[in-house]
Amino acid sequence: MQLQDQVVVVTGGAAGIGGAVSRVLVRRGAKVVAVDIDADAGAALEADCGGDAVFLAGDVGAPETAEAAVALAVERFGKLTGVVNNAHASRQVPFVDLTQDVWDLSFNTGFNATRNFMLAAYSHLKAAGGGSIVNFGSGAAIVGQPTQGAYASAKEAIRGLSRVVANEWARDNIRVNLVSPMALTEGVVAWSKAFPDLYEASREKVPMGRFGDPETDVAPVVAFLLSDDSVYMTGQTLMADGGANKIY
Ligand SMILES: NC(=O)c1ccc[n+]([C@@H]2O[C@H](COP(=O)([O-])OP(=O)(O)OC[C@H]3O[C@@H](n4cnc5c(N)ncnc54)[C@H](O)[C@@H]3O)[C@@H](O)[C@H]2O)c1
Repeated sequence: MQLQDQVVVVTGGAAGIGGAVSRVLVRRGAKVVAVDIDADAGAALEADCGGDAVFLAGDVGAPETAEAAVALAVERFGKLTGVVNNAHASRQVPFVDLTQDVWDLSFNTGFNATRNFMLAAYSHLKAAGGGSIVNFGSGAAIVGQPTQGAYASAKEAIRGLSRVVANEWARDNIRVNLVSPMALTEGVVAWSKAFPDLYEASREKVPMGRFGDPETDVAPVVAFLLSDDSVYMTGQTLMADGGANKIY
C-alpha cells in the first residue's frame, strides 16, 4: 500500500516505534514531520530520509508544539493529511505512591498531546478533503497492569476520546483509529538486558512467542490506517501485539 501525496506529523517520530513509523511512511511515498525531544535521533532520521522527513525538536507535552508541527508540515510540504500520536512518556509506580508529577507527565505527553495535535490538525485535514489520525493505546491499559495507573488512565482516556472524535469528524472524512503495539524498541531491549527473567516471562505470554519488530510488525499497521485501504474504518483499536491481548 502506497502513501504518495500524504503529509503526516508523527509525534515521538525520531526513535522507537515512532522512528520506525516515520521511515516506513517515507519509504511508501509520504512526507513526514517528526516531532521529538531526541535531537540526535532526529538528525539520524533526516539523514536516512533525504528531505522527505523533517525533524522538529519539541516536547509534545508543551501546548505550543502541536501548532508548530502542523504549521511546519503545511509550510514545507503544502498540506497535512495525517497525524500519528505516538509519543507518551510515563513512570511505573504503585497507585498509592503516585505523585502529581507522575500523573502530569503521563497526561501531558499522552492524553493532552493527543488532544492538542488532533485539534491543531483539524482545519488542515478538512482543507485537504479529509485525513487519518492514528493514536496509540496499550495492552497494559486494557488489562490493568499493576504500577501503570497514570499510564493506563491516560491511554484509556486517549481511546475514549478517539472514539468520540471518530464519530464527530466522520462527516468531514477524517478517520481516527488506534494501534495497541508490543514491540522490541531500543527501550525494551535495554529493559530486557536489565531484567532478563521479566522479559522472558513477558515473551512467553505472547501467543506468537516474540515481541514485535517496530518496522515490520507495527509500522505497517499504522501505514494501513493512514492509507485508503482502511478508508471505511474509524473508531477502531487494532492490536499489533502477536495476540498478547484481545478486545471483544
Ligand atoms: N514498545 C512497546 O512494546 C509498547 C507497548 C504498548 C504501547 N506502546 C506505545 O507505543 C508508543 C511508542 O512506544 P515506544 O516504546 O516506541 O516509546 P519510546 O519510549 O521508545 O519513545 C518513542 C519516542 O518518543 C520520544 N519522546 C518521549 N517523550 C517525548 C516528548 N515529551 N515529546 C516528544 N517526543 C518524546 C522519544 O525521544 C522517542 O524518540 C507509545 O505511545 C507507547 O506508550 C509501546
